[in-house]
Amino acid sequence: MLDIIIRQANLPTQERALDIAIKGDRIVDISPKIAGDAHEEINADGRLVSPPFTDPHFHMDATLSLGLPRMNVSGTLLEGIALWGELKPLLTQEAIAERALRYCDLAVSQGLLSIRSHVDVSTAPLVGVEAMLQVRKQVAPYIDLQLVAFPQDGLYRTKDAEENLIRALDMGVDVIGGIPHFERTMADGAKSVTRLAELAAERGLKLDLHCDESDDPMSRHVETLAYETTRLGLGGHVTASHVTAMHSYDNYYATKLIPLIAESGMNVVPNPLINITLQGRSDTYPRRRGLTRVPELRAAGVNVAFGQDCTMDPWYSLGSADMLEVAHMGVHAVPMTSREAIEWAFTSVTLNGAQAMGLPDPTIRVGGPANMVLLQAQNPIEAVRMKATRLVVIKNGKVLARTAPRTAKLNLPDRPTSLDPADYAPASNTSAN
Ligand code: FE2
Repeated sequence: MLDIIIRQANLPTQERALDIAIKGDRIVDISPKIAGDAHEEINADGRLVSPPFTDPHFHMDATLSLGLPRMNVSGTLLEGIALWGELKPLLTQEAIAERALRYCDLAVSQGLLSIRSHVDVSTAPLVGVEAMLQVRKQVAPYIDLQLVAFPQDGLYRTKDAEENLIRALDMGVDVIGGIPHFERTMADGAKSVTRLAELAAERGLKLDLHCDESDDPMSRHVETLAYETTRLGLGGHVTASHVTAMHSYDNYYATKLIPLIAESGMNVVPNPLINITLQGRSDTYPRRRGLTRVPELRAAGVNVAFGQDCTMDPWYSLGSADMLEVAHMGVHAVPMTSREAIEWAFTSVTLNGAQAMGLPDPTIRVGGPANMVLLQAQNPIEAVRMKATRLVVIKNGKVLARTAPRTAKLNLPDRPTSLDPADYAPASNTSAN
């Protein structure tokens, strides 16, 4: 007796719909017609079943704090930083944990089951670290939550940041963070990259730096990060997040830099929702988009994964744990609108995010863990287009969340009485014109 059979599922890379059989926490069969009984049958009816979504860049210690202690009236990065400074002394472990858990509930409903969250370690006491360690333990059965010790105010700009960062690692935080472009000088920024990369090598930990999140064409810390990654042999254990300044580098420098990034083996994580809203704000017109060079990085073979960064916090008042919204914004803001690139955007918030986080390949396959999401869309491009409803979310063979399909009841003369947005796929070659 099987536990779950999903009938007629479209998998991201398969031409035809297949049945998926789940027993316990494993996928035991994927074939055109699976015989036998299961405790539950789910009819996908030609809709997409994909690996769960991944968010390799988030700030869960700040999420859902929008409005505390006041709103970011201007919506700018500078007011967001000032606001976070006002909020930090008021934070309690209980309140951070409660908001983070509410966010995790939302993430599960959106099929988002792997998250890397930076946690501010600039100032003691480390209430954010305490809270997030508690949350990591609590959500472990259903969310892979990685924590990054993030000296948000700079490793060398505040007196105890380095000591606090090391204490956070000793407390069990998984990944080393940093923010070289925010140090007082370029030299201090480069020194912080070297120090943090050496710490990662010593401790055998991953490294994920907010790197060159700026419009400054001279902010070139990613070059040092690539150098240190190669020198210390850290490869895919390293991630350069944001890298928005690459948008503003001159083309000659970019063509020298990108092969060095590829050679190092590091990952790059742009955050389209935040980059498109926070960068270019001091420009008049034309106004820069501030997205890093995604097509060129991809062409060089770099693993690029989109992150979300923020949801309802001092820096961003929108967001909904929806990685399809992130992919959708990436497609527009880069821009990259070929069919291949839109499909890639879907992969960037599933497989590529898992790779950046160092997780096992989540591709749906026989023998693999039964982790998947049934979407109200036929294929990855339609999923991005519609930011498709997550109809069923499954982790380790257990249904964690269900959402009713989006439909509309119509009352129009001589027209259908209901509308399913997933029926608006492109016409096939065989359709009549
Ligand atoms: Fe960030």
